[in-house]
Amino acid sequence: MARHLITSALPYINGIKHLGNMVGSMLPADVYSRYLRGRGHEVLYICATDEHGTPAELAAQEAGLPVAEFCARAHDQQKAVYDGFQLSFDHFGRSSSPQNREITQEIARELHANGFIEERSIRQVYSNTDGRFLPDRYIVGTCPHCGYDKARGDQCENCTRVLDPTDLLEPRSAISGSADLEVRETTHLFLLQSKLTGQVEDWIAAHGDEWPVLASSIARKWLTEGLQDRAITRDLEWGVPVPADVWPELAASGKVFYVWFDAPIEYIGATKEWADAARDGELRDWKSWWYEADETVRYTEFMAKDNVPFHTVMFPATILGSRQPWKKVDYVKAFNWLTYYGGKFSTSQKRGIFTDVALELLPADYWRYFLMAHAPESDDSSFTWDLFASVVNKDLADTLGNFVNRVLSFSRKRFGDEVPAGHAAGEAEERLGAQIAELLADHEAQLEALNFRKAAQSLRALWSAGNAYLDEKAPWLQVKTDPEAAALTLRTAMNLIHLYAVVSEPFIPTAARAMREAFALPADAPARTRSWVDAAEARALDAVPAGTPFTVPPVLFAKITDEDLAGWTARFGGGE
Ligand code: MF3
Ligand code: ZN
Repeated sequence: MARHLITSALPYINGIKHLGNMVGSMLPADVYSRYLRGRGHEVLYICATDEHGTPAELAAQEAGLPVAEFCARAHDQQKAVYDGFQLSFDHFGRSSSPQNREITQEIARELHANGFIEERSIRQVYSNTDGRFLPDRYIVGTCPHCGYDKARGDQCENCTRVLDPTDLLEPRSAISGSADLEVRETTHLFLLQSKLTGQVEDWIAAHGDEWPVLASSIARKWLTEGLQDRAITRDLEWGVPVPADVWPELAASGKVFYVWFDAPIEYIGATKEWADAARDGELRDWKSWWYEADETVRYTEFMAKDNVPFHTVMFPATILGSRQPWKKVDYVKAFNWLTYYGGKFSTSQKRGIFTDVALELLPADYWRYFLMAHAPESDDSSFTWDLFASVVNKDLADTLGNFVNRVLSFSRKRFGDEVPAGHAAGEAEERLGAQIAELLADHEAQLEALNFRKAAQSLRALWSAGNAYLDEKAPWLQVKTDPEAAALTLRTAMNLIHLYAVVSEPFIPTAARAMREAFALPADAPARTRSWVDAAEARALDAVPAGTPFTVPPVLFAKITDEDLAGWTARFGGGE
């Protein structure tokens, strides 16, 4: 059994995230974590809010709150939504934690000791109107590469290029909108990434081939443009302070680290937060995951494509330059964009569906399944209400939900509250078992390869196989001539329901639980009734024996009606 370290890109603190954020980082990481746990692996799934930098300060300003208080509240709000989505983090931390401060400062000291950090005097944009420097997102303007006119000082959202505020054309302040700007001299710390280029190249050459093309191609493209030395400090109130023992003057002048310097380090920081939260007697060794981790630790990162350069090039450069045995990523799973009717989901422009609102409309399972079935893996994918409704109604309500309900209610009506015995399995069950084993093997292979869309397809194929079997055997007819034959059909179908409970859990944990709890299996039932089922075992379709008491759960998935659709399209905007 391996030890799996899993992280999803840390959501910014500046507001509730939309479904496009969810599908490209936290949700697939959760599905993968649940799958691996089901298979008996040791899993540590870590995430946190990314709380520093200009987005946090700007959002706090907009909310009229001190930034520390804003972040504390916003963290709790995001956490509540992720609980609602059933995200099974082992820890959901905060990049403003003391643990992250300590480790970030430590890594900066190591980089300095190895000659990779230098003080440089640079020219920075200063706003006369606002009386302050305008780093990163405090400044907006036109992207010099693609012409997008709402590019921010740190990155262009449109072409994903990383920018420096002085690159922007027609720059203006994001605080006041003022264009009364000038350039002033100020001293900052620079990470000498240029000196680390060779090492990053070697590391990507050794590991990048294993990553999906989306991640490795972005990483390589980034390297061909060459690594530039980058300023890693900012003039902000809120952030990890520059350690005074190494840089007393900069610390005294209030410099903090740039948010993209401390954010990925929070993967480590949050793991220490997790360890520090251990209760009496519980052993939580954060170092065994991150520091001199042994070869059984496999580290998988999840993120949207705009985050890839930071995770495949810049964070590795930081870690390599520390010359300390920090764990580096093994597999980078990157996603394209989920669009809303072909356009951008946008937090700032309030377009699309936000995760908190989604949960007010429907329970998490509906969204989880839809988002994974249409994950933007090989390409961008588009959310439309019609597509969403048809997927929910066909796959979840008809193919799965209706099957479960039909089988259990019919069996109860004809044979009472226990799984009926009936004839021994025959040729049809033999065929079904072989088909299920094959589909399950495919499903496993897709999950092992982190192909979420295909994994959702193979899951649906498993559900469909049950429907086809039921239609072929037609127990409602069998019962008239040969009740024992009907009983066999129903017992087999109930075994499918139990199998669905196990293998659907990563995608639809709530419905999976209802299906599982429908059967009162004895405490000493075989292990395969509790954790993942191997394809070979699944073939027998006998985990739930005759005589097992069962109940009929309430309808698992309600259909989305035409009225629902009309209301939601009107409320959220459709294709216009
Ligand atoms: N907050 C960033 C974003 O939303 C992601 C940070 S990932 C980490 O794009 F590496 F910094 F942790
Ligand atoms: Zn651009």
